[in-house]
Amino acid sequence: MASHFPQAEVIEASLALAAERGGDLTPHVYARLFAAQPEVAPLFGKDVNDSVKGEMLAQVFDTIFDFIGPRVYADHLMRSHSISHDAYNVPPAVFLSFFTVVAETVAEVIGPEWHSEMAAAWQALLAEIAQTLAPA
Ligand code: HEM
Repeated sequence: MASHFPQAEVIEASLALAAERGGDLTPHVYARLFAAQPEVAPLFGKDVNDSVKGEMLAQVFDTIFDFIGPRVYADHLMRSHSISHDAYNVPPAVFLSFFTVVAETVAEVIGPEWHSEMAAAWQALLAEIAQTLAPA
């Protein structure tokens, strides 16, 4: 499959390993998000069964896979969601920070098996996402 990101395989391997070690990453990701940015927790106040949180994270993973792979829609989707999230009190910088929270969660869940190649790949990915979301 065409790839738009040189370290795509490393990212994919890290996500596969995280799913194997941690199962559903939803509780881990949001626990980390709310610990680092408690001010966003109330935005999910109505999401008592975690369905919005789960749906959002699923879309983030889908977007990452498209972004590092065929990149058919990911860049456009990230930009449009960044704008639509601003309307419900998630400024662009906070929106962008979600990808870092995902990367940190993957590292945490993988634990001792997380290695420097994965760290470098995620750092490059986060930089490219930041560039995609940067104002023109
Ligand atoms: C820290 C960053 C973020 C916060 C605080 C946040 C917050 C929220 C909130 C509060 C909702 C529910 C809105 C509502 O229905 O009232 C939501 C929905 C959603 N968010 Fe985010 N978001 C963040 C980042 C992202 C990112 C990076 C993506 C994808 C690239 C994304 C994709 C979505 C999607 C697809 C939904 C709709 C889920 C559904 O209701 O089925 N969000 N977000």
